[in-house]
Order: sequence, then C-alpha cells, then structure tokens
Amino acid sequence: MIDRYGRKIEYLRLSVTDRCNLRCIYCMKEDGVCKRHHSDILSIEELTEIAQAAYELGIKKIRLTGGEPLVRKGVLTLCRNIKAIDEDIELVMTTNGTLLPEYAAELKTAGVDRLNISLDTLNADTYRTITRRGELSDVLSGIKAAQNAGFTHTKINAVLIGGINDNEILDMMRLARDDDLHVRFIELMPMDIVRGWDKSRFLSADIVKEHLNNYDLIGYDGVAKIYRPNGYKGTVGIISPLSHSFCDRCNKLRVTADGKLKPCLHSGEEINLRGLHGDQLTEAIKDGINSKPKCHNLGEFHSEAARGMNEIGG
Ligand code: 5AD
Ligand code: SF4
Repeated sequence: MIDRYGRKIEYLRLSVTDRCNLRCIYCMKEDGVCKRHHSDILSIEELTEIAQAAYELGIKKIRLTGGEPLVRKGVLTLCRNIKAIDEDIELVMTTNGTLLPEYAAELKTAGVDRLNISLDTLNADTYRTITRRGELSDVLSGIKAAQNAGFTHTKINAVLIGGINDNEILDMMRLARDDDLHVRFIELMPMDIVRGWDKSRFLSADIVKEHLNNYDLIGYDGVAKIYRPNGYKGTVGIISPLSHSFCDRCNKLRVTADGKLKPCLHSGEEINLRGLHGDQLTEAIKDGINSKPKCHNLGEFHSEAARGMNEIGG
C-alpha cells in the first residue's frame, strides 16, 4: 500500500514481548517492566493473524522485536507460521544476542533470514554498566553461534552514548573489518526514561564519519547510510533520526506487544488491533497506513511516544 505521502509501506515490526533478560539503561528501568498479564499480550495466533493481514496489504518484510523476542514462548512457532504465509516474506529479528547460543540453529530452521544483534560496547565492564546485568561474553558467543548456524549479513546495532561508548567507535567498526558483520551506529533517541538525560549523552552519529578515512559510500540500506572502509569485509552504517530525519524514506508500521498499531515511532497515536479479525483487522491496518504522519515531531530532546522502547521494539 502507498500512504498519503507516496511512501510504499512494506515493512512491519512486530513486538512479541515487552520483557527482557537485560535492563539497558536507555530502555528499561532497573526493576524492569510493570509486568503485563499474559493475556494482555498478543497470542502467537493473534500475531500470526496480524502478519497475514499485513501481508495481504503488501507487507514484504517482517521484523520480530521485543523487549527480547527470544524470551517469548512460542516465538519459533510464530517464525514458522510467518514463513508458511509465504516463504518469500523476509523474516528478520532484532535480539540482544545473549540467548543465541541456545536458539541460533533453531531460528535458522524456523526460517529466520537475518539477525540484528544489539551490542553497544566491546568492554565487559561497560557492557555491565549499560545492560545492568548482562555479560559481554554471552553476546560474543551469540554472534559466533549465529555465524555457525549459517546466518550471514548479520547487523550489529550500537547506540551511541556520550561519555559511555563514544571512545569505542573504532573498535566497534573493526567488527566489520574481519567478518561479514555490518555495524550500525544509532543516535540515542530521547524516549521515555532517556528524557531528561544530560545533553552530553546525545551525540550526532556524524562523529562516526571522523573515523572513516578511506571508504566507499555505498548508499542507503533502509534508514541507514552505509559506508565500506577500504579492506573491510562488512560495512559501517549510520542511523541518525535526530540529526538527519529520514521520514521521507520510512516504509514501516509497528505493532506493540499488547496489540496497538503505531503509524510512527515517535507519535502518541495508536490504533487497537486486538479483538479484530478478517475485514475489520485489514481496515484497522489500512487506517494505520493512512494516518502515517509526514514526519516525526522528534524535537531535540523529546519524543511524543508515551512508551519505552521495550514496548515498541525500536
Ligand atoms: N535510542 C536509540 N536506540 C534505542 N534502542 C533502545 N532504546 C533506544 C533509544 N532510546 C535500541 C536498542 C536495540 C533496538 C531495538 O533499539 O539498542 O538495538
Ligand atoms: Fe532488552 Fe534491548 Fe531494552 Fe536492552 S535495549 S533492555 S536488550 S529490550
């Protein structure tokens, strides 16, 4: 489907849980989410129904997100269900990677095409500071497990946080030097609990370019601007929602774990999908596409979204 501003909407992000085994400082409070009742979260059947309806409206790519999608029971069934709709649907997942040693091979057989792994630092202490409870070695084993399971073109999502990991840009880039890994630096967005953080924490992703000497500018991959430094196997990308808005290329719809369609990440607008089936569900998704705003109102330090990232899934 084409929206009011001529954008072809082909990409659906489904949050399959708001829970997570980590507590990243920019995403969740220390004590975690106020746990929703199991029945408040979309069932695997409901998630499948939404995927089917969205597919019929032209969605070609589906990303499973969280929270952490691998803590959701039944996520492998959901993957198989989505691939059963049409095996050409591009099925991808964003995960913190810590549970991949256990799940990578099963994800591959369930039909997942690619993985994005969230990793902001290569320093074990900094990793503990950012995630509050994670072990760097678990993610590194997760990346290896993904490679061993046959995943290629894996992306590494790194959120830039001033004073915490901005001294590691070159080290992080090097993940892409020797391996088929694609590092994406993302500007910290002022969502929910990040609101009110000191200005110095918010960096323009342009600082990454200072570390790129000899490179080819490859172009865009979705909302990321991609570079390949000379001699690198993988690529380095910059995602800058704040400093360079990319709304004119936004082809996404998002569904929260409790079944609300969000036409834009940063707007408060939500359309309920719960309890809807058949034509009603299709109409609600169409409404969502038709109400996608031209651009977000992401002010320098303010997002109008009323929820944290763990509920929206990035
Ligand atoms: N700003 C930018 N990225 C964020 N993520 C979570 N919260 C924020 C934020 N405030 C990222 C995670 C993960 C993806 C789902 O979203 O690091 O890579
Ligand atoms: Fe979990 Fe990802 Fe949020 Fe970190 S950013 S707490 S890994 S959902």
